[in-house]
Amino acid sequence: MFDVKAIRSDFPILDVKVNGKPLIYLDSGATAQKPQRVIECIDDMYRLHNANIHRGVHHLSAVATEMYEQARERVRAFINASSREEVIFTAGATASLNTVAYAWGERFLCEGDNIILSEMEHHSNIVPWQVVAERRGVEIRVLPFDDDGRLCVEKLSELLDAKSRIVAVTQASNTLGTRPDLEHIIRLAHANGTLVCVDGCQGIVHGGVDVQALDCDFYAFSAHKLYGPTGVGVLYGKRDILEQMPPFLCGGDMVDRVSFAKTTYAPLPLKFEAGTANFIDAVALGEAIEYLKALDLLSVEAYEAELTRYAEQQLQQIEGLRIYGTTANKCSIVSFNVEGIHHYDIGMILDKLGVAIRTGQHCAEPVMHHYGVSGMCRASIAMYNTAEDIDALVAGVKRAVRMLK
Ligand code: ALA
Repeated sequence: MFDVKAIRSDFPILDVKVNGKPLIYLDSGATAQKPQRVIECIDDMYRLHNANIHRGVHHLSAVATEMYEQARERVRAFINASSREEVIFTAGATASLNTVAYAWGERFLCEGDNIILSEMEHHSNIVPWQVVAERRGVEIRVLPFDDDGRLCVEKLSELLDAKSRIVAVTQASNTLGTRPDLEHIIRLAHANGTLVCVDGCQGIVHGGVDVQALDCDFYAFSAHKLYGPTGVGVLYGKRDILEQMPPFLCGGDMVDRVSFAKTTYAPLPLKFEAGTANFIDAVALGEAIEYLKALDLLSVEAYEAELTRYAEQQLQQIEGLRIYGTTANKCSIVSFNVEGIHHYDIGMILDKLGVAIRTGQHCAEPVMHHYGVSGMCRASIAMYNTAEDIDALVAGVKRAVRMLK
């Protein structure tokens, strides 16, 4: 049995008041709240274990290094990468995706090639590709979605050709909740000799990933959506591909030998970890993973799915309300608008009632263009949410409609 009360007691922020009302946090898609043990881990790191990693023979440095590398092992096991060399700590998913676009693009993209992006990508899986495409003279092709928010995977074969080098696609849309059929996409792409780069930011939180079973070539995610700290994320890449890529950022820790005549690079994964890594938060990400591993993630998933269905059923009763993204196996994200009312106005009224949702374009402007809207309201549901949270959301939207119509 899923015990939401026990889960909630792990997250101290859920006890705060907002505008004199109990906080109802429905914005975990933007950033998730942190369990006590992650907060304590960060505190312990600064109080007890702080010293720069990979750089000293002294005790604290050795301990911090060991903890950092243990966090890497925790991530490796969590995503089932085949080796630690394939797990690179970055500043977040955006940094991970920029690393792929820049470093892989630098080595493998030539004028006349094309890359395929899904129409539902977050800006961080669009813009780095646009920049590299412009630099290398590469065409961008777009794999569309339909009005239900289903990615039209059947159209991929029409886009793939001998010059298609990579498909960049989300595991779960941050706006529509859609989980594209990645297995199918990867099979088609690989049969064409094309790589696949997956944005796992939302997907890893809702269902996780086994990168070997999925057979993706790159996989990116941030810690802060996975109940971990901000400022750290992961890039997984298949080892043979990472080996062939030049470094992205350069400086300390990513080198083997440096002279003015020639510099050689450190082996993986350090080749892609220039400068002082965010080792404190990497360790805290490891702690968040340990927290999650102690839960029954299948029942978490089922619970979130049930709350999502409940939210959709209740919201749909509101006249003029449209939900964007209605695919059957979507993750726990509910984006909507009410006809004739601006999304910001709904968000502001909800805020007065203590209900936090995200409003705006959700860093996915092409999705807004698809539906011809300037923005949306988005409730994103996490394991610490309750049916009462959903009731408060629905009551708040009804109130906003009464006030604004
Ligand atoms: N990418 C985050 C979101 O979807 C910030 O809100």
